[in-house]
Amino acid sequence: MQQNTERRPARNKVATRRRYLMCRPTYFDVTYSINVWMDPARPTSAELGQEQWKRLHDTFSTLGHDVELIEPTPGLPDMVFSANGAMVVDGRALVARFRNQERVDESAAYLDWFRGAGWSEVRQAEYINEGEGDFLFTGTEILAGSGFRSDPRAHREVQEFFGRPVVSLTLVDPRFYHLDTALAVLGHGEIMYYPDAFSAESRAILSARFPDAVLADEADAVVFGLNAVSDGKNVILPQQAVGLAGRLRDRGYAPVGADLTELLKAGGSVKCCTLELRE
Ligand code: ARG
Repeated sequence: MQQNTERRPARNKVATRRRYLMCRPTYFDVTYSINVWMDPARPTSAELGQEQWKRLHDTFSTLGHDVELIEPTPGLPDMVFSANGAMVVDGRALVARFRNQERVDESAAYLDWFRGAGWSEVRQAEYINEGEGDFLFTGTEILAGSGFRSDPRAHREVQEFFGRPVVSLTLVDPRFYHLDTALAVLGHGEIMYYPDAFSAESRAILSARFPDAVLADEADAVVFGLNAVSDGKNVILPQQAVGLAGRLRDRGYAPVGADLTELLKAGGSVKCCTLELRE
């Protein structure tokens, strides 16, 4: 058999079935501002937000994934962003500790959900840790962000809790305040990211570790193109990120556009609404 000796990423990508936790945006609103995207003076439509979210939910189901739901709590408008609620690897759940007072009470809801759903190893993080907003699992290691939300000390805690190596990265642009707004794991050892969101040191780490990464430009990054969810083949991302969609197609991925403009008013999109549950 002939060997492919070129250092080129494989084009035939295979999806694997995933399990996600989502939270209906019943109480979604922008009533405070804890990131530069949030302007409480700008009107939001709860109805449109719910419609857009429902379409995302149905997209995952149509692709064959299991979607579980956590009941939204009144008075917690950001709870729709379930990615921030925890990180789950190897059946262990490390529940978030939020930086901003406005979101602190979400942790109790996630602790209850994981305990009620029978997950055996469940505890809340000791240091500020915004779950999959700042911690992304590549399949072998955990990429960890800090600079705006999660405490750098949380990186060590995550490494110890999951027994997986952690790569620490520093975010420097307030528009990309969570790691999942600047970087997405695609699978097969591949990632995509927006270099300018990271410190020079972190950029050097990323380019050395992921020389074949898909790079996003600013236009795709500001529409939250990197706030994407991949099942190894299908990459669900904001439909406005057209450049990125083309680059993903060239790599053998199937980009699936989602419209989440209403949730973007709170500084969140596809990935923010999706917490992966890994047994
Ligand atoms: N308004 C929320 C916040 O600032 C948005 C969270 C977005 N979630 C994410 N995974 N990036 O905390």
